[in-house]
Amino acid sequence: FAEILREDEPLAPYTWLKLGGPAQYFVEPRSTDELIKVLNCCRDERLDVHVLGEGSNLLIRDDGVSGVVIRLSAGEFSEVDVDGTKVTAGAGALLSHVISRSVASGLTGLEDLAGIPGTIGGAIVGNAGSKTGDIGTKVESISVLTQDGKQETIAADLIGFEYRTSHIDAAVVLGATLNLAADDPREITKRLRKTWIMKRSSQPMSSQSAGCIFKNPPGLSAGTLIDQAGLKGTRVGDCEVSDIHANFIVTHENCTSSDVMRLIDLVRSKVSNEHGVDLDLEIKVWP
Ligand code: EPU
Repeated sequence: FAEILREDEPLAPYTWLKLGGPAQYFVEPRSTDELIKVLNCCRDERLDVHVLGEGSNLLIRDDGVSGVVIRLSAGEFSEVDVDGTKVTAGAGALLSHVISRSVASGLTGLEDLAGIPGTIGGAIVGNAGSKTGDIGTKVESISVLTQDGKQETIAADLIGFEYRTSHIDAAVVLGATLNLAADDPREITKRLRKTWIMKRSSQPMSSQSAGCIFKNPPGLSAGTLIDQAGLKGTRVGDCEVSDIHANFIVTHENCTSSDVMRLIDLVRSKVSNEHGVDLDLEIKVWP
């Protein structure tokens, strides 16, 4: 696959935080066959594999990533098909695109996910959601490549969806089929608008961020804990804890990934000291 492989590819432009170093190798396969060839080669060459979605929930460290970064964004991986109440999407299809196709087809079920950035693959692996619902509850099945390179379909009840995580033991998620329900398009649009208004009033929508940084500890709110620890507006280098929502870190022009990591450590230790709660990251950090 040498002709589609790029070396030393800057990764920052592929992430929402626009931070981090390059990938040793980078590839955007357009089909499952091409992807299988890439994975076989990675196995033969003993190269680590990292699958990149929309980069909206991801912090890449300043030194970059060794091995191969695979971005599923093109060809069959970005396709979306609607058949009755079922929506089938490639792993690289944008969640926003899947939501708009569903709404245009008079299908309800994804309104709570409006405004969440990311691809279908990323949303499924991390069971993306809001307080009122997550994508796992809408999944009928997913299609994956197993660790030994076989294509398989996994039913939703075997995926182990939990709060902001899943238990998918596969090399790569190729796509998913969602099971939605028919409804009056005007009612669906009303609910979508409600979700947007709620987010716009409580989250820093126009700043550069990776969404919520920490998971909510069981029964608690990470945003409230960070806010009560007096951390809103706390700055390290060129990033700061948002003063709109304390579980967001917003980044500015000269920010580096290590600024963000240092701010994450500072928030964690202050919340641990003040509330005796250890916060777990919701975002992924590479490597
Ligand atoms: N709060 C504060 N101070 C703050 C932020 C929040 O006191 O700075 C309080 C709020 O007043 C509210 C409570 O904390 O009483 C919960 O806040 P919010 O309603 O904003 O919800 P959240 O639990 O912080 C979750 C998801 C968001 C999702 C919203 C809305 C997590 C970690 N976060 O936020 O998801 O958009 O619900 O459904 O589960 C994301 O995953 O990236 C994300 C932003």
